[in-house]
Order: sequence, then structure tokens, then C-alpha cells
Amino acid sequence: MEVKRVLLKDYTTLGVGGPAELWIVENEDDLLRATEAPYRVLGNGSNLLVSDQGVRERVIKLGGVFAEGELTGWVGAGSLLPLWVQEAARAGLSGLEPLLGIPASVGGAVRMNAGTRFGEIKDALAEVEVYHRGKLERLPPEALGLGYRRSALPPGAIVTRVRFDLKKAPREAIAARMAEVDAARKRQPKRKSAGCAFKNPPGDAAGRLIDQAGFKGLQVGRAMISPEHANFVVNLGGATAREVWELVKRVQNALNLELEWEIWGEVEP
Ligand code: FAD
Ligand code: EPU
Repeated sequence: MEVKRVLLKDYTTLGVGGPAELWIVENEDDLLRATEAPYRVLGNGSNLLVSDQGVRERVIKLGGVFAEGELTGWVGAGSLLPLWVQEAARAGLSGLEPLLGIPASVGGAVRMNAGTRFGEIKDALAEVEVYHRGKLERLPPEALGLGYRRSALPPGAIVTRVRFDLKKAPREAIAARMAEVDAARKRQPKRKSAGCAFKNPPGDAAGRLIDQAGFKGLQVGRAMISPEHANFVVNLGGATAREVWELVKRVQNALNLELEWEIWGEVEP
């Protein structure tokens, strides 16, 4: 097991976050050791706003046996979802198309029940392996309380492996579906971000509301509300968590929206 001091800005898609101790676990023994003291689990860091001061807890990243697997068998939760989406398309197996373009680890996608308007990961799972209080348990996806960008995993539970529920389908049909999902992302910014900052309120879109309220292009330091899609905060290069948080606060002072991002550490000034 590798343990090292890192800056979390190098491990998040937004490119923001201070120091932490990273524990890269390779197997079950490592997992037992790494979870002996307070910890957090890092996936691909694509839904996180991490404090400039970093976090005190150990940050566990799944590597080794938890980052490999087979499309039609058990897949490690530390592996990247986009790789499986592409592999399934190549293999003529349908089920993962709605998840095209989500830059998640498999475990982070389960934890957030990542999805698009075309479908969520909860509908593409056959079984999920979860590590909790020193034990690995295999559960049906219904046991995880998966809903719109949420799960009811108990605190400290770590998704370690999943089995996808895939069905044979013509490759052309899969490709056509993926093109549709891709097209729905056209206005999403290419710059560094953590995806949508806020959840959509029932029956509406946070992006539309933030846009209508006139926030597009608002900049604090090196952080900006994307002029392309108002529910994305982008890092123009060198943004701090404080700057990003200031934008979140300004939006929340004007609109009653629930954050989709997870906040790690202290971001309030
Ligand atoms: P992280 O950001 O690393 O962590 C998120 C949470 O999951 C944390 O609480 C973390 O502790 C927990 N976690 C991570 N791994 C595990 C594990 N193995 N076991 C238990 N808990 C774990 N999301 C969507 O739903 N739909 C989209 O279309 C979408 N588009 C995006 C586009 C872009 C450009 C970006 C940057 C993000 C987008 N997102 C989208 C947001 C993000 O990709 C998802 O929320 C994703 O599920 C986060 O996965 P992650 O592995 O990066 O998790
Ligand atoms: N809109 C605006 N202005 C904007 C942005 C959007 O008016 O600046 C309007 C659009 O015209 C549209 C509506 O808002 O009528 C919805 O926008 P969009 O189609 O871009 O989808 P979204 O609801 O903003 C959701 C997910 C995305 C996912 C896409 C594609 C949430 C919070 N967001 O976005 O997921 O990729 O659908 O299916 O549910 C994420 O969760 O991080 C994420 C990126």
C-alpha cells in the first residue's frame, strides 16, 4: 500500500483542494489497515469541492484489485466508468449508454447514483459489493437506497466492486443511443469543473434558474459561473475553494437550490 502526502487539487477535476494523506489500497488487507483511523473515500474527484486547507482524515483511493475487473464479471469500484461505457459499446452490450460522458470512478458513480436524463447507474447494476465495518458484503442495488443523485450508504461504507446488468444489443443501436446522450452535453463547458453544482429542483432545471437570475459569467478570482452552462462553475486556472464557495453562496442567496457537490473540509472564510 502506498501512502503519500498530496495536494487534492491534483486529484479533483475542478483542480481545487489542499493537502491530505493519500492511502492507495491494493487489496482487502490494505483496506482493513487504511480504515483503522478516520477516513474519506476518493473516487475520481469529479463531484468534489475540497478546502484549500485540505482534510485531516486519511483519503482512501481504490487501486490494485479494486481498480480492475471484467465487464461481464466483477468490476473494481476504483476503475473509471468511461472505460466500461466504451468497452460495453465495443462488445455489443447495452445498459451503460446513458452514462456516457460522466467522468466518475465506478464507486463514486454508485455513491452519487450518477446519471443523465437518459438513465441512472442504478438501472445498470446487478449486484454491488460494499465494505463496511471490516466486512465485505454483496448486496442487490435496491438495498443501497439509490435516488436522484443520492444513495443511503451508511457513513464509512465503501463500494468495492460491482456487477453490471447488461444485455446483448446491435452495435448500431448502442452507438445511436450514445450519440443522443452525447448531444445533450453540447452546452457543457470543456474547462475544469466538478459537473453541475446544484441538483435540479423537481420539474425545473437549476441551470435555467441560475441563467435567468443573470449569474452567467460572474467571476470571483479565478472561478467563474460558466457562460456556456449556468450550473457549472469553472476553474480558469488557479482558482481557490474560497472563490468557488463565494460563487455558490451568491447563487444560494438568490435561489433556493440544493448542492449536488460534496464539500470536503472547511470552505467558509
Ligand atoms: P468523487 O467526486 O471522488 O466522490 C464523490 C462522493 O462519492 C464522495 O462522497 C466520495 O467519498 C464518494 N465515493 C467515491 N468513491 C466511493 C466508493 N468507492 N465508495 C463509497 N463512496 C465513494 N454526474 C452525473 O450524475 N451526471 C452527469 O452527467 C455528470 N456529468 C459530469 C460532467 C463533468 C465534466 C464533471 C466534471 C462531472 C460530472 N458529473 C456528472 C459529476 C460526477 O462525475 C458524478 O457525481 C460522479 O458520480 C462522481 O464520481 P467520482 O468517482 O468522481 O466521485
Ligand atoms: N438551461 C438554460 N441555461 C443554462 C443551462 C441550461 O436555460 O445556462 C436550460 C436548458 O435550455 C434546458 C434546461 O435548462 O432547458 C436543462 O439544461 P440541460 O439540458 O443542459 O440539462 P441539466 O438539467 O442542466 C442534467 C444533469 C447533468 C446531465 C445532463 C444531461 C443535473 C443537475 N444535471 O443537466 O448532469 O449531464 O442533464 O442529461 O441533474 C451533473 O449532475 O453533474 C450533470 C452534469
